[in-house]
This record gives sequence, C-alpha cells and structure tokens, in this order.
Amino acid sequence: MIVIADPAEMQEMARGWRAQGCKIALVPTMGYFHKGHLSLMEYGRKVGDKLAVSLFVNPTQFGPAEDLDRYPRDLKRDTALAREAGVDVLFTPAAEQMYPAGYQTFVTVEEVSQGLCGASRPGHFRGVATVVLKLFNIVMPHVAVFGEKDYQQLVVVKRMVADLNLPIEVVGRPIVREEDGLAMSSRNTYLNPEERRAALCLYRALQEAQGLMSARKSHRDEILAAVRRVISQTPHTRIDYLALVDPETLKEVDAVRGSARLALAVWVGHTRLIDNCLLVEL
Ligand code: PAJ
Repeated sequence: MIVIADPAEMQEMARGWRAQGCKIALVPTMGYFHKGHLSLMEYGRKVGDKLAVSLFVNPTQFGPAEDLDRYPRDLKRDTALAREAGVDVLFTPAAEQMYPAGYQTFVTVEEVSQGLCGASRPGHFRGVATVVLKLFNIVMPHVAVFGEKDYQQLVVVKRMVADLNLPIEVVGRPIVREEDGLAMSSRNTYLNPEERRAALCLYRALQEAQGLMSARKSHRDEILAAVRRVISQTPHTRIDYLALVDPETLKEVDAVRGSARLALAVWVGHTRLIDNCLLVEL
C-alpha cells in the first residue's frame, strides 16, 4: 500500500491507473476506522481494480462549536487496517493541501441539504459536497462507495453527481452495527459506559418502527410517537430530530407508502448520534 499526502501526486497516480485501463474505486473517510469503514473498503476492493481510500478530517464540514479539534485520530492504526483491507493507496492530505491560502470555491446542493442534519448543522453539507467533489477530481474514481449510516450525505452526493454530470457511480452500502445494534461510528468513542448503554435507544427506536410496519401501522404520527417514546424513556438523551422522509427527495411523508426512510439524530450526553432505516409497507 502506498500512502500519499500530496493531491497532485495522488492525481498523477490516478491518471496512470486510468491510462492502464484500471477501474478505480474510492472510499472517502475521516479515519479512525471501524468495521463500517472496512465493509466499504471490502466492497471497493471487489468492484475496482484499484482501491483508493481517502483519510481527511475535513474542516469545512464542521461548525464552529463542533468537534473538529477532538475528532478521534490514529493514523498508525488506520494505516495498518487499510493495508490489511487490501487498499492500494491511502490518500492523507493535510488541511493546507486541500484548502491552501486563497481558497474560495464551495459546492452547494440545495434542497436535499436543508432538512434533517442540514437543519441542525448549517453549512455541513456544503463542506461535505465540496470536499467530496475535490476528492473525486483528485482520485478520479469510476466508483465511489458511501455508507447508508449517513443517509442524507449519500443522497446529497448522488444529487451532486447527477446534477454536475460526473462520470462516477455512487454506491450506498448497508449500516454496520455493533453486536447489540448500535451503528458503528468513530464518535461512539466519546461515550462513557452509561451513555453507551443509553445510545442503544436509537436502534431500539428503529426496531419499534419496524414492529409497527409488521402490524401494518404506517402513519407518520404513529411511527414518530412510538420512536419518541422509546427515546424519551432513556436517560441522558435529547432528541435533535425524528423524521419520516421520501428515500430520494428527503421530503417529509405522512405515511409509509411503498417505502420511506426513518431518520433520527439524538444527543446522548454531549455526543450527537444519528441512525436510520428503510421502512417498507407490507
Ligand atoms: P466518515 O464519518 O469517516 O465515514 C466515511 C464513510 O463510512 C461514510 O460513507 C459513512 O457513511 C461510512 N460509515 C460510517 N459508519 C458506518 C457504518 N456503521 N456502517 C456503514 N458505513 C458507515 O462520512 C464521512 O466520513 C465524511 O463526511 C466524508 C464523506 C469522508 C467527507 O468528508
């Protein structure tokens, strides 16, 4: 595995691969790898001839009061895990290389960035879309792999790729969970043991909603009330949002017709966790 920090050098490598006719897969990450990241790499390795993983804690997607400074980092461990996962190149640029002095260009994906996490994290998806487009231009992938864990992010990236005619296939992969159901996340390391137990309420709430689907109860109010009940019974938690949305437009729906995405963000102590699932009408 090669580790490259310089964007120009990364682009040169990608150009060489393309000249050889290789299919390039990219998994963009902010590092501190867990099994969710590794599942994306495994998929990328299968579909691409060359697998690039970017590791960049992107400052433009963090708000001023957010956790940029304390976001967990362990480059040594990540490098070893990426090597084991069969990654060909680990791209690890510094912030000054991605955003040198004088930088002033940003990408805004309008409607799908506005609700859900976009409402509580203004500017977040502008930072995400910008860095992802830059990564696409630097790594020149044929396929880019994202997790459904960050469902709105996946929709934003798909929208950007379609709107800007990027010749890239964007693939969304299922959420990888801990044995007890908690969605894997680098931010889970912020949780103390008591909060870690409380954090399970997100998954339990999603399961409760799945239960309602089995009972053919598909109205938004009923689903969200049940979800709210599960979470509000759990200590140390505060709901940021609960939403039942159309899987493509992310617009709120009043019932699950066909299918819908149930998405939630919950503060557990000082940590904001997100989770979601597909609900299918029986
Ligand atoms: P990060 O949070 O490191 O996540 C990198 C990728 O891993 C994302 O596509 C995310 O959805 C996926 N992922 C995270 N947890 C997962 C889980 N439990 N199961 C499956 N996939 C999971 O998302 C970002 O970084 C950044 O916003 C980025 C896209 C790299 C842009 O900076």
